[in-house]
Amino acid sequence: MSKFRIGLGVTGGIAAYKAIEVMRLLQKAGCEVSVAMTRHATEFIKPLTFRALTDQYVIVDDYDPANPDPIAHINFSQNIDLLLIVPATANIIAKFANGVADDFLTSTYLASTARVMIAPAMNTTMWEQPATQRNIALLKADGVRFVEPVAGELACKTVGTGKLEDVENIVSQALSLLETTDNRQQTGDRRQETRDKNQGTSPSESPVSSLLSHDSDLLGEHILITVGGTREAIDPVRFISNHSSGKMGFAVAEAAAARGADVTVVSGVTSVEPPENVKVVRGISAKEMHEAVMKELPNATVFIGSAAVADYRPANAPAEKIKKDGKETMSLELVKTPDILADVSKNRTNGLLVIGFAAETSDVIEYARSKMEKKGLDMVVANDITKDGAGFNTDTNVATIITKNGSETDLPKMPKREMADRILDEIIRLRKE
Ligand SMILES: Cc1cc2nc3c(=O)[nH]c(=O)nc-3n(C[C@H](O)[C@H](O)[C@H](O)COP(=O)(O)O)c2cc1C
Repeated sequence: MSKFRIGLGVTGGIAAYKAIEVMRLLQKAGCEVSVAMTRHATEFIKPLTFRALTDQYVIVDDYDPANPDPIAHINFSQNIDLLLIVPATANIIAKFANGVADDFLTSTYLASTARVMIAPAMNTTMWEQPATQRNIALLKADGVRFVEPVAGELACKTVGTGKLEDVENIVSQALSLLETTDNRQQTGDRRQETRDKNQGTSPSESPVSSLLSHDSDLLGEHILITVGGTREAIDPVRFISNHSSGKMGFAVAEAAAARGADVTVVSGVTSVEPPENVKVVRGISAKEMHEAVMKELPNATVFIGSAAVADYRPANAPAEKIKKDGKETMSLELVKTPDILADVSKNRTNGLLVIGFAAETSDVIEYARSKMEKKGLDMVVANDITKDGAGFNTDTNVATIITKNGSETDLPKMPKREMADRILDEIIRLRKE
């Protein structure tokens, strides 16, 4: 039996040809792939290519007399574990978000309870258009997953965000979504997941209504955030690390996504699961985290450095385990790691807001101010980790938000998720200044 059944929807964009590679990689991973195309997609690539490679009729128009299945939109939609759209045009995103069902692919989306993952590709202006971002936020609130496009040179010869993510990354995100669903023995029903998320909220508090009111205030922002602690190898067995759990950073990521932002998390070692609807990239050592951040930075409009990044790492980490050899003491030579916050700040392009966290044990405000000045930050969230209810691995925090224009806001002990919203409120205030 095949590992997963995937309905691959191909729509009318230049990147349509990349759907062939996605299909091949899914097949290699043991999945059964059935393909549906929009009429415009067939202008870019022929259904015959997919038919030859899947050995199945490729439905474009279910009214076509050649279509072998008279109720194809129902049969197709109910026999898949995942509906994966590669590439997704601005048009299909708009139709899905608004329940339009005027062709086979859109009827399939409405008739399906399967998980849905969308990999958009389009010109930067189309991508940044408030209408497109609003539609994406609506779909995210409906439980649809996105594989965000990346920055690069586009078919229209401009450089900006809108390029389809690498096909390997699309496939690995699709498989990990299906594997997580499988491991949790969930139904895989995206509507159930949305209902679970909304349980206990009145209709006026539902994610959709909040998206349409004040809570969509981060639409159009691309937030890049580092989370967790780094791990610096001493040898293949041992490492230097810290107590960061990732709870505060993930709370900010979750709150930002709920308020309409596109969120990319570069995650070190954490003791909690990342929230849904954020892109997660791993960066376990300071060097790996630095590389991942620099790669993602061109897409960002706000950078938040919440990770506890090691300042030093062992100078040499041998390939083999270091032996005791009867020694009573042992010295490790440490060298500086790259300074992620300072490098982001140095490489900032117009409009990028750079926010740091400062976890201290004494003279907190003084240290935080000096960090902000030295690194050229817009804002610092300062913590005294010795305070009751603050610091690592707790579900609450106590902090002071300091901004470059001198304001200081004390946040008393509160849940980290609530504090996340207060931090985002300050970021919005800074953006408006
Ligand atoms: C040459 C060409 C390339 C296009 N590339 C894209 C694209 O990459 N992304 C996009 O959203 N629309 C693109 N469009 C516009 C879509 O094809 C158009 O919105 C169409 O209605 C989409 O239909 P569909 O979503 O049903 O496939 C392109 C149009 C042309 C003529």
